[in-house]
Amino acid sequence: MRVVVTGAAGFIGSHVVDALSGAGHEVLAVDAPSRSPTPQVARRTWAEVAVRPGVVVAEVDLAVDELDVVAAADVVVHLAGRPGVRDSWGPGRAIAERDNVTATRRLLAACADRPAGCRPKVVVASSSSVYGSAGRRPNREDDPLNPASPYAVSKVEVERLAGLAADAGLRTVLLRYFSVYGPRQRPDMAFHRFAEAALDGRPLPVFGDGRSSRSFTHVRDVVAATLAAAAEELPPGIAINVGHGEHVAVREAITMLTGALGVQAEIHRETPVAGDATRTWADMRRAQRLLGWTPAIGLRDGLEDQISWHRALRTMQEVRVG
Ligand SMILES: NC(=O)c1ccc[n+]([C@@H]2O[C@H](COP(=O)([O-])OP(=O)(O)OC[C@H]3O[C@@H](n4cnc5c(N)ncnc54)[C@H](O)[C@@H]3O)[C@@H](O)[C@H]2O)c1
Repeated sequence: MRVVVTGAAGFIGSHVVDALSGAGHEVLAVDAPSRSPTPQVARRTWAEVAVRPGVVVAEVDLAVDELDVVAAADVVVHLAGRPGVRDSWGPGRAIAERDNVTATRRLLAACADRPAGCRPKVVVASSSSVYGSAGRRPNREDDPLNPASPYAVSKVEVERLAGLAADAGLRTVLLRYFSVYGPRQRPDMAFHRFAEAALDGRPLPVFGDGRSSRSFTHVRDVVAATLAAAAEELPPGIAINVGHGEHVAVREAITMLTGALGVQAEIHRETPVAGDATRTWADMRRAQRLLGWTPAIGLRDGLEDQISWHRALRTMQEVRVG
């Protein structure tokens, strides 16, 4: 299969490229690392994926550049964008609009412009944030959407665009990812910040009281669902939750994380983030039925995996400095 992966220098995208390369597919890995909130991290990841077998990289800003990169693709896995609820307020709103909405609109148009029979299937990253906070049961894909931040609003618009493209004949599928974690997790995300603080011996910066809960989902499980969505015949425009079926409170996750690190850490409580869900909770039945997917990695094991990565990164950095 020839696959274009956008956002390939990012957290999830880089793992998708690794998996596709490992399975022997041809991959065109697309990104514009300068659009990442942490360009130096994106450049480091970019260098890692660029040397994988069967991978060619192309630096393309999806919001402004020519998009002929989609020309030879059987599938486009579209993960590029500006993630994150917190930074989407204020000036972040225009960035989310540009890198989520404009970029997706242009990418879908470029795919739709291909001659009939040569149009790639497009797997598009959405987010659990489109639901707002979950209630007493897990969120199902046909629940009403209740976006509470500019980021979530941008993802609702991304979904609308993918739906319109499907109506016009493009095979699109929307994956609503739930709090992804694991090696290479973005520096702004909770477990990354907690692990780095704990390893430095600093208090852990926690937004709010730690009672909010998430369907934390390990990136290897997310990759498995994403590859299944690329391979399976699916109803065009369908949305599928990609999230662990259990939701865990942040403070419980902190206990697991500090336990795995073998440290006792203080908590530094920070003001809760406007628009952050108090609970995310994925109903997994559609993913099980259509993708044959159930997450395989529990939070305790998954956190150990992420911690090993933080330790390895530190060792590498020490070697470089030394
Ligand atoms: N990580 C999560 O928990 C999570 C949860 C829900 C949804 N998502 C979605 O999954 C996708 C990937 O998330 P991630 O955590 O890997 O983010 P990330 O920031 O690590 O990766 C996104 C990549 O997109 C690139 N990019 C941004 N704008 C671009 C543009 N205009 N042109 C080309 N490349 C551009 C960035 O350089 C970056 O490398 C995003 O769409 C995000 O909204 C992530």
